[in-house]
Amino acid sequence: MVRFVEVANKSQIPQNGAIGVEVEGKSLALVNLNGEIFALDDTCPHAAGPLSEGEIDGEEITCPWHHSRFDIRTGHVTMDPADEDVATYRVRLVGDAVEVEI
Ligand code: FES
Repeated sequence: MVRFVEVANKSQIPQNGAIGVEVEGKSLALVNLNGEIFALDDTCPHAAGPLSEGEIDGEEITCPWHHSRFDIRTGHVTMDPADEDVATYRVRLVGDAVEVEI
């Protein structure tokens, strides 16, 4: 059943930065894009690099391993070598709590 699960506090996620969290067996990257929080799979589809450790440039995040890029809002891959998108998840804020739809 799909439901929202608390995964972090917004204050933990730096402005235009990301953190990695584990929730229910999934590794997620939480990104703070100009104050708006997004959640996407943390595991790069190319060779499993941690996207949450990548650089954010505009609305894209770059995998730290081989520099594939992904649209933070949609998960679409925008630069190879990855050739698959990453999943994204709905996010809601309850006060400072970041909840992700799992
Ligand atoms: S693991 Fe991400 S680009 Fe290779």
